[in-house]
Amino acid sequence: MPQHPLVADPLAGKRLVLGITGGIAAYKSVELARLLFKAQAASVQAVMTDAATRFIGAATFQAITNQPVFTDAWDTRIANGMAHIDLSREADGILIAPASADFLALLAQGRASDLLSTLCLARDCPLAVAPAMNRQMWAHPATQRNRSQLIADGVAVFGPGTGEQACGEVGDGRMLEPEELLDDLRGWFAPKLLAGKRALVTAGPTFEAIDPVRGLTNRSSGKMGYAVARALSEAGAEVTLVSGPTALAAPRGVRRIGIESAVQMRDAVHAHLPTELFVAVAAVADWRPAQVSVKKIRKIESNSPPELRFVDNPDILAEVAALPNAPYCVGFAAETDDTNNDQRDQALINLASAKRIRKGVPLLVANFGPDTFGSDDNALILVDRAGSIALPHASKDALARTLVAEIAQRMSV
Ligand code: C5P
Repeated sequence: MPQHPLVADPLAGKRLVLGITGGIAAYKSVELARLLFKAQAASVQAVMTDAATRFIGAATFQAITNQPVFTDAWDTRIANGMAHIDLSREADGILIAPASADFLALLAQGRASDLLSTLCLARDCPLAVAPAMNRQMWAHPATQRNRSQLIADGVAVFGPGTGEQACGEVGDGRMLEPEELLDDLRGWFAPKLLAGKRALVTAGPTFEAIDPVRGLTNRSSGKMGYAVARALSEAGAEVTLVSGPTALAAPRGVRRIGIESAVQMRDAVHAHLPTELFVAVAAVADWRPAQVSVKKIRKIESNSPPELRFVDNPDILAEVAALPNAPYCVGFAAETDDTNNDQRDQALINLASAKRIRKGVPLLVANFGPDTFGSDDNALILVDRAGSIALPHASKDALARTLVAEIAQRMSV
């Protein structure tokens, strides 16, 4: 089957200037630079303030970025002596991480006090800052005024986060973790295919209680559903994720509603409608025990194993698709492979087409269950009225981005 090309990571091929200012969080920016290369950024040009070099050596950034590091406006390595112009001209964006309170003040006032502030003033590319400071410094009216001014000037502000600070205090002002900054950067660069659209996603397994300590569940890590929620958020949608029990953190910018059973999932879904899009990725238990014992069923109190009787769970996707003002609905199907290799994909497409019609949805995404459970990779087949397309074996994030682009295209016609 011909394979459809995948949508690239929004960071792939990007040329970034990473500005580091004076703060203990500077050590996390080393990891950020490493992750940027892992995401296939084309280049990371580190520029440090004098104060930053008191926290971490320029040699560390040089080794990790494989580029000379600039710290001085009078650096003679740039032939025309205009480091403040040349360093940002080729860049797709500048990120200042960590951005100290002092540096935010410099930016808000449009000052050109050193190389980094001068190149920010002289830039012709977008600028983002990741503030990092003591909670009192962050809460200070002057810093908040600077933050508002920077936002009004079109600067993106990532974070800060909340938690323990190097000074021992607890509150707002921590620089976001490198992985969080990477997510925010992706959202910053990604095309906004679904700007202003509301999307509802179900993910993970459901858990159907038998008694207070036992239950039945499905094999689902939630990784595919969380990747879909993340990709929708990157594309500018306002995302609510209704999730069964998983070990995953909610993607940044996504509102997660935790549930256990299919009935709870159905209720949470209906409570968050209407939306323009509904993507049902969850592995919902088809049945639940007809009766839930209020106390633990004790082995010692019965001579034989208990007999379980089941009742049907609601089909959440089919119900939503049948609503009078139904959102654009996308279903998933995890099937097992019970044919030989030649007919494997065709058998999956046949099952998925029948399921798409049965559920009354325009798009159904099929995969082989045992190939995907718990894995970071997958391969998908998208089935709609016009036929099917296969997305190659890739990370769930790459597949989710491609799926979101396909959904956006279908929603726009
Ligand atoms: O029928 P099957 O469980 O294979 O259908 C899978 C699709 O339907 C998935 O999108 C799943 O999230 C959704 N589903 C649902 N409610 C159910 C069963 C499945 O929303 N009770």
